[in-house]
Amino acid sequence: MRPSLLEELTPVPNPYPIVSTLAYQDIWGLCEQARALAWDPARIDYSDLERADLPAEVREAGAEWWSLRAWMEHGAIPYGAERLLDAIFSHQPFEVKQHVVNFIAEELRHHEASFRVAGAIGGYQPSPRSDYFRSVIPRFHDEREEKQMSFFAGLAVNTLFEQLSGELLQARYENARFESIRTACRLILRDEARHIQFGRIIMRRFFAEISADDKAMLGQKFAKKLRGSLLNGVYAVVNLPPDEQRRAARARALAAEHGLGATHPEEEMAIIRRALNEIREDVGAHGVEIPPIAEVDEERAPLLS
Ligand SMILES: [Fe+2]
Ligand SMILES: [Fe+2]
Repeated sequence: MRPSLLEELTPVPNPYPIVSTLAYQDIWGLCEQARALAWDPARIDYSDLERADLPAEVREAGAEWWSLRAWMEHGAIPYGAERLLDAIFSHQPFEVKQHVVNFIAEELRHHEASFRVAGAIGGYQPSPRSDYFRSVIPRFHDEREEKQMSFFAGLAVNTLFEQLSGELLQARYENARFESIRTACRLILRDEARHIQFGRIIMRRFFAEISADDKAMLGQKFAKKLRGSLLNGVYAVVNLPPDEQRRAARARALAAEHGLGATHPEEEMAIIRRALNEIREDVGAHGVEIPPIAEVDEERAPLLS
């Protein structure tokens, strides 16, 4: 073959070196746990939800609620896919790529369990019915914001959100009165605990090397994402426009009152505040400061009527 032809065949970007030596034993430990603790959402029996004696409006509210959960879990898939590309082309060792692959598979099964629950309650909604959700879900993650951070710093910020959503999910697990929903929440929480563990490992290992400016940026990015998208009907309803806030809050309240694994809008802000304070303490130890977040810090109550 002519050398010029070979040049044309050179893959870009260069995949080498493809690193197989383990560099982070603690991350590899998480990968081993992920293999041992795999589960299958299709094997959960959702018939208790189909059989339940629930009014039509409660089924409607529960189906919307679990559809929203499914859309949110799905949001982690494109995010994870981008991180996998980053991990591959920044030549991360095997266990880092394996963790990201596990993360993607796990978020996909959280998505699956959620749409199966929605389906059994009253029908999964592949697109949000409310205009507001149709516009807010796609803006949940902004890859341009993500790319301003280094690979590990970005992963650490994501972990802070996993910690927050883990606290909310714990409350939703406690609210659930149906075995299928309790099982789904418990298994999702077990995966999330590993994702949070990963974040703690990288904070411990990499935060010492991050500059003061970058640390300030991490805190600001966290606050921006929390205010701009997650309080807009995702983690809580408090930043939704008033009409949509009332509608979404009523639906959540209804789902929570019937034990469908939802959080009551009046409880959500307290859970978020508690989790935020814990996160502030955790990252504070690494010199990262999360700026004030008025909606959370000032105990702003959602509109219910
Ligand atoms: Fe998840
Ligand atoms: Fe997760």
